Amino acid sequence: MSGLTRLIVFISMFAFITLMSEAQYLLPIMKHEPSKQYYTAFDIGSAEKSYATLVLDLETNLTWLNCRELKSLSSLRLITCKSSTCKSIPGNGCDGKYCLYRQPNPLGKPVTGRVVQDKATFSTTDGGRQLSEVSLPRFTFSCATQGLSLPIAGVLGLSPAGEFPFWRQVTRAFNVIPKFALCLPSSVFDVGHFYVGGVNGYIIPPFSCSSNPIPMTLTPLKNIESGKYIISPTSIYVDGVPLSLNPSLLEGGAKISTVVPYTVLQTDIYNALASAFTLQAKKVGMSEVPGMAEFPGFTPFKTCFEEGGSRRNVEEFMNVPVIEIGLPGRAGEVKWRFHGANTVVRVLETVICLAFADGGKKPTEPMVIGTHQLQDYMIEFDLSTTRMAFSDSLLSHKTSCSAWPSRRQNHSHMML
Ligand SMILES: *[C@@H]1O[C@H](CO)[C@@H](O)[C@H](O)[C@H]1NC(C)=O
Ligand SMILES: *[C@@H]1O[C@H](CO)[C@@H](O)[C@H](O)[C@H]1NC(C)=O
Repeated sequence: MSGLTRLIVFISMFAFITLMSEAQYLLPIMKHEPSKQYYTAFDIGSAEKSYATLVLDLETNLTWLNCRELKSLSSLRLITCKSSTCKSIPGNGCDGKYCLYRQPNPLGKPVTGRVVQDKATFSTTDGGRQLSEVSLPRFTFSCATQGLSLPIAGVLGLSPAGEFPFWRQVTRAFNVIPKFALCLPSSVFDVGHFYVGGVNGYIIPPFSCSSNPIPMTLTPLKNIESGKYIISPTSIYVDGVPLSLNPSLLEGGAKISTVVPYTVLQTDIYNALASAFTLQAKKVGMSEVPGMAEFPGFTPFKTCFEEGGSRRNVEEFMNVPVIEIGLPGRAGEVKWRFHGANTVVRVLETVICLAFADGGKKPTEPMVIGTHQLQDYMIEFDLSTTRMAFSDSLLSHKTSCSAWPSRRQNHSHMML
């Protein structure tokens, strides 16, 4: 290499590294009951802004919302069929002049809408609090004429596929690292964290960015072209003992879902988990009682327990068996551990049920990890490395996804 070539290579590498901005964005996450859906909210519009509430969905490619819920439609720009934007939407349609998009709706019938652009406004962050507003001048989404039967306007696309998931539009516009992280709150009274981009890390007290970061474990995501986030469980453990499963049952991987409330398992996996769990639960004095399928309003939980004496003088769910999912890590297997708050639900004062659902003999996906299991974990999807990172349950560190830095705790205060 000539000296000049070397210099150019050096400068372009340097430029590549420094051009990637460190900026990070933070949006709120709320929980809706009884639907158990998680949604975020931000402003849409230029002249008159509307606070749009959108269900988080890891499989939706293009955000859609009921535009009748917007206060002003005057700043919406329709996208023509001939535009490059329309052409880069797989499965696009055309109504003669304007671009259309029809897509599956995680909560109902498929939705057809016109593809539009408008300004989206949300907040930057230092990893802890929301700092100042920024806008994406041309946020692309689809304007449906129907909404959800919830007080929520539509669905935020977070899939790994295509050009238009929200995280990709944000990270491309601001030239930040293509990743996002979710920390789902467990109650409707709390607000969780939805981060986009950033190298700052996540400040959820008592964790801080550099001195005491949230410990995270990495596992690869497979087959993201499918438009889904899929991890590859190698085994499942109950109180440290692996379930004896036919390995082919786990081959399809486990999909991560923010719309499914309870993890759904193929029947054989469910049965193996339920019997191992029951065995351990009986050892600590719980007794099996009929499932709660017949109680209206409950997901049909098939495996339930009367807590008996085991409950006395112990913290909520303290002696519930621990479930772990074994996953490929950097050097061998890593374990994603779930304690009682994420494995059972209380259905009656002294009755708890295994918070997993039997998905039948031949479901489309053998395992779908749902939100009861994800809440109060920090879950990061890094599309630059195609890896997912998960924390321990924040509850095991005496904190939760709804913990926020107090207003006073900042550097200038610390120096005083
Ligand atoms: C999203 O896009 C991917 C890749 O084009 C496609 O396979 C998938 O079916 C799409 N998903 C939805 C929900 O439209
Ligand atoms: C930090 O705290 C001080 C006083 O407690 C306050 O005046 C200042 O505005 C805070 N800075 C930020 C960035 O929040």
